[in-house]
Amino acid sequence: MKPRRAAGTALAAVLCALVGVPDHALAAPGAPGEPRYSPGAADVGDPYFPDQGNGGYDVRHYDIAFAYDPSTKHMDATTTVEAVATQDMDRFDLDFRGPQITSLTVDGHKASFERSGQELIVTPRPKLKSGKDFTVVVKYAGTPPVVTDPDGSIEGWVPTDDGAFVPGEPQGAPAWFPGDDHPTDKATFTFHATVPEGVTAVGNGKLVSKTAAGGHTTFVWDEKEPMATYLATVTLGNFTVAQSATPSGIPVYTAVDPRLADRSAAAVSKIPDIVEYFSTIFGPYPFSSVGAIVDQAPDVGYALESQTKPIFSSAPSVGTMAHELAHQWYGDSVSVGRWSDIWLNEGFATYASWLWTEHTGGATAQQTFDSAGNYGRAATSSFWQTVTADPGPEDMFGNVPYNRGAMTLHALRGKIGDAVFFKLIKDWATTHRHGNGRTADFVAAAQQASGQDLTRFFDVWLYQKGKPATW
Ligand code: TRP
Ligand code: ZN
Repeated sequence: MKPRRAAGTALAAVLCALVGVPDHALAAPGAPGEPRYSPGAADVGDPYFPDQGNGGYDVRHYDIAFAYDPSTKHMDATTTVEAVATQDMDRFDLDFRGPQITSLTVDGHKASFERSGQELIVTPRPKLKSGKDFTVVVKYAGTPPVVTDPDGSIEGWVPTDDGAFVPGEPQGAPAWFPGDDHPTDKATFTFHATVPEGVTAVGNGKLVSKTAAGGHTTFVWDEKEPMATYLATVTLGNFTVAQSATPSGIPVYTAVDPRLADRSAAAVSKIPDIVEYFSTIFGPYPFSSVGAIVDQAPDVGYALESQTKPIFSSAPSVGTMAHELAHQWYGDSVSVGRWSDIWLNEGFATYASWLWTEHTGGATAQQTFDSAGNYGRAATSSFWQTVTADPGPEDMFGNVPYNRGAMTLHALRGKIGDAVFFKLIKDWATTHRHGNGRTADFVAAAQQASGQDLTRFFDVWLYQKGKPATW
């Protein structure tokens, strides 16, 4: 935008000079130093989810306060979005699929808005100058929706028999709060959840307070490290809560549906050991708390690496627990720049669980690589017909980003050697900590670290279909 604006201004000045327009007439929008307002972009241009994210501003903090009653599925919410304008802006979008909006203000002034699909289009008055901090307060009430993904699975706000299970990847967050729903705009979060007495509300980060009054309990949760919207959760239900710490002192908070206590005990009890082991190979744990939420949400059927507290829709195995905890480094701290990079999340988390298995005396990573579900698949299998680095929205949570992604890492390790490989993945976590990384960035980092030309290697593993035969 900037070069275009400068060129336009220069051209206007030349034209004005030619036709003899007095200088002061240039103090119209577009003159140097004068704001030239335009609408923020309606999306960030991610082809997997073309409406996701927005332009024109950066979110700094979300404060999401709601009361929810599981028996009526009614939510009454106030979300405050603190952001900074990155352009002179007369209109901007938030992503929101939630229930009816009852009021919306920008910096305390009532703002007009309209809704179109997941776009909440806001017209702030006064207009916003580039660099200005602004605060949007949105009040809404009703039942937040369940969102269906391109692969048919569900996410968003999913009612359970005793509360709600709240996964947001890749497009569920706007079901329950308005925001900038793309992993490239991270922010800190505070949640205030008011629920009927007896229900526990479990959010990301640390529990700040729990206050009972008039048959309700309000839980306040605070996540102080930057978080992508899809990793936000406040999952509600009947939970048995336990608090402990990892050997290096990171607080652990677990919430387990008592019906799943026995079946999840092995995985939940391993959290401190898993975090400790991964810290040695991936570098320091990137957040200030950890834990897990084990719930009974049979319609969901998958787990999600919600930041600091992965959520499980059934009792997890130890391997699944390791997978979701590995995502705290790869996925949550280092997040994708575009959803096509999903193997950087799923391949890394899957490979991490192979390493955990080997570390605890099970199959070696090499054995897992060679097994029937991995490299052992016949070359004729349809498995080999999906491109790892661009699986498409329907297959982004299919086998390929997970298993071929993990195989890619194991093959890379063989190619560049253990010392370079483990330094590479640790440095990757450090360099992009609390940020984003793209496949091309990882390829460049691997080339740099190894001093090898890995073009053909990554071509056969990431960018081409077909079973790699040599690399
Ligand atoms: N990222 C999750 C994991 O691997 C899985 C997941 C998130 C998922 N959202 C999904 C799977 C939607 C299927 C559909 O731990
Ligand atoms: Zn995963």
